[in-house]
Amino acid sequence: MKLTIIGTGKMAEAIIAGALPYHDIHVVGRNGEKLASLKARYPKIVLEGTIEKTFDIEGKNLILCVKPYALEPVASHFVGEANALLSVLAGTTLESLKTHIKAKSYVRTMPNLAASHQKSMTTLFGDEAFKKEAIDICESFGKALWLGSEKEIDIATAVAGSGPAFLALVAEALTDGAVKEGLKREDATTLVQGLFEGFAPLLEGKHPAILKDEVMSPGGTTAAGYGALEEGKTRDAFIKAVEMAYKKAQG
Ligand SMILES: NC(=O)c1ccc[n+]([C@@H]2O[C@H](COP(=O)([O-])OP(=O)(O)OC[C@H]3O[C@@H](n4cnc5c(N)ncnc54)[C@H](OP(=O)(O)O)[C@@H]3O)[C@@H](O)[C@H]2O)c1
Repeated sequence: MKLTIIGTGKMAEAIIAGALPYHDIHVVGRNGEKLASLKARYPKIVLEGTIEKTFDIEGKNLILCVKPYALEPVASHFVGEANALLSVLAGTTLESLKTHIKAKSYVRTMPNLAASHQKSMTTLFGDEAFKKEAIDICESFGKALWLGSEKEIDIATAVAGSGPAFLALVAEALTDGAVKEGLKREDATTLVQGLFEGFAPLLEGKHPAILKDEVMSPGGTTAAGYGALEEGKTRDAFIKAVEMAYKKAQG
């Protein structure tokens, strides 16, 4: 499918990298140098120039990848009616998208940067008329889950959108812990990278509590470490992190 990506930032690039083998990707942005640099890295993309005066969106399938505050200024350059608008903007409602951009169908999506490795867990919600196509597009850069309401997109944002940053904290803390006890930084980093890679398939087939029970033997090393995590209210901190991110996503 021909897709027009609006934006040249981190999320735009992750989607380009993931979807490029499956779709005809066109890109527009406001910065000519950033567009040229993307073209150098992904020669297959088609540049549609910079958004200066007007940009004709008639009949296009747009993926809007700008910052939420940029919706209005970017949309002010658009003329025509898009076939579909997929937005990745955190906290920007379907109502707000409809107010600023003319399209036949609107879908909010919440991908994450793992899209660049075709591993984004993307949630979606919007017009049923474009549901099948939207899922198909998002599955080209990972997994896709169509939710039951718009509110749920904001909750998902707090987990799937922000999640890589939360897990990065876990990865960094575990690495620092190993270094503190005397492991070389390089070895600790390799260890944690391997841990995350091996953990993903385990989690696919099992409830996290069962996984934990299988690792934790009575009076053992894991139990000792786990006690420290509970003492530090780690579980509570993660639940609060999701709560705060959800509140923020609601605007
Ligand atoms: N990063 C993530 O993990 C993540 C995850 C899920 C969703 N998102 C969503 O993805 C969107 C983009 O985030 P990002 O992380 O990719 O940010 P980013 O790297 O800062 O990229 C933002 C893009 O928006 C463009 N932009 C900003 N103001 C503009 C304006 N007035 N007119 C035209 N273009 C404008 C920027 O252009 P310039 O390069 O010229 O400044 C850039 O291309 C956000 O809405 C965010 O909510 C991000």
